[in-house]
Amino acid sequence: MWRLSHAPLPAAIRNTASPHRNTSIRAATGSAVLLLIASLIALAGCAPKEPANDPGSTEQSQAPAIEIAWSPDMDCSTCHASEQESYSDSQCEASLHSDVACIQCHADDTSLASVHEGKTASDKMPTRLKKTNVEDGVCFDCHYGNRSELIAATNGSVSLTDSQGTSRNPHDPEGISDHETLSCRNCHNMHSNDNIQERALKECESCHHAGVFECYTCHE
Ligand code: HEC
Ligand code: HEC
Ligand code: HEC
Ligand code: HEC
Ligand code: HEC
Ligand code: HEC
Repeated sequence: MWRLSHAPLPAAIRNTASPHRNTSIRAATGSAVLLLIASLIALAGCAPKEPANDPGSTEQSQAPAIEIAWSPDMDCSTCHASEQESYSDSQCEASLHSDVACIQCHADDTSLASVHEGKTASDKMPTRLKKTNVEDGVCFDCHYGNRSELIAATNGSVSLTDSQGTSRNPHDPEGISDHETLSCRNCHNMHSNDNIQERALKECESCHHAGVFECYTCHE
């Protein structure tokens, strides 16, 4: 069974500064019930495993931090406090995924195991994905199944507009191979509260540098 990721955070982690803290109040009321239910479920049988607290280990090691062996069942929130908090920030897409556990999206178990080798809670936490991926297929598993269904479902309702008023569905590569380099996670940041329209437009403008959705009109 997937572990719900809503177990209450230890006090020490709650104090960690979070970029989402200022907006989390708004989301709090709506998710309070869910949080309560999730906490009860966690207490009922899915409580995160505590790292082995072996008193013997403190003698032999000078490093105060305890290394935790990677397991997909571990409590991610003890280290990744800000991603955990994004679940309760209504400005973050993670908040729409309150029933989805971390590892349902972060499913690349082999790479994650190697990334976490020898890591402790006092190591620097990442601010973006570098060594692992969240594949488009992960999103399609729950959303529309494939690209053409996604395009069909969002034609007319989802669009980006350039400085000349040209609008396009960002999900439709229109057969242009450069457009196929865009992956869901480039625009759909789960844990950041950036505005998705602005974020997405920036992706287009990484190539459409003049802020116009065309090429070969100003130069070859
Ligand atoms: C003991 C602390 C700790 C725990 C527990 C932990 N992580 Fe991490 N995690 C880290 C650290 C430290 C890094 C940065 C590693 C690096 O820089 O190579 C990291 C990196 C990551 C990354 C970024 C990888 C990349 O692409 O660069 C993801 C995703 C991630 N963790 C997910 C998880 C998930 C999911 C869980 C729970 C199943 C989890 N972590 C549990 C400490 C932890
Ligand atoms: C395990 C299933 C699951 C996975 C995996 C998943 N989602 Fe979702 N997603 C949901 C559920 C459930 C909702 C909330 C119900 C809804 O609105 O469809 C949601 C909502 C959304 C919404 C808002 C939908 C709307 O209609 O406004 C977006 C956007 C979204 N997800 C994008 C993604 C992206 C991008 C990925 C991949 C990085 C992803 N999701 C992965 C289940 C999932
Ligand atoms: C170039 C940026 C971009 C990329 C890449 C992208 N999206 Fe989107 N997506 C958007 C924008 C913008 C919206 C509209 C969200 C809004 O304005 O709230 C959206 C909306 C959605 C929605 C909600 C649509 C609805 O039902 O109302 C889903 C689901 C979604 N995207 C899934 C995906 C998946 C799956 C992928 C990867 C295959 C993907 N997106 C790739 C920009 C992008
Ligand atoms: C619905 C899918 C989804 C879920 C659920 C999810 N993530 Fe993510 N995560 C992503 C995507 C997509 C990215 C890359 C885009 C971004 O940076 O937001 C990402 C990025 C990250 C990163 C890189 C740093 C960052 O914040 O961008 C870490 C670490 C991470 N996730 C950990 C977690 C942990 C821990 C959980 C559970 C508490 C979790 N994720 C739940 C999809 C998800
Ligand atoms: C990796 C670079 C790249 C990115 C990112 C990119 N484009 Fe393009 N785009 C191109 C190139 C190159 C062409 C010209 C291709 C051709 O005509 O063969 C093009 C052409 C177009 C056209 C003209 C199509 C036509 O009718 O001739 C539109 C509209 C467009 N892009 C919209 C977008 C939008 C919207 C985004 C963001 C969601 C985007 N592009 C992101 C490279 C890119
Ligand atoms: C509205 C006009 C306009 C459009 C549309 C436009 N460009 Fe440009 N581009 C320029 C101008 C002006 C320059 C030269 C000044 C500069 O470097 O910004 C330039 C320079 C460049 C350069 C550097 C050329 C060199 O020889 O150093 C590249 C590469 C380029 N554009 C690619 C593209 C691509 C790819 C597209 C479509 C995705 C595109 N441009 C669309 C106006 C445009």
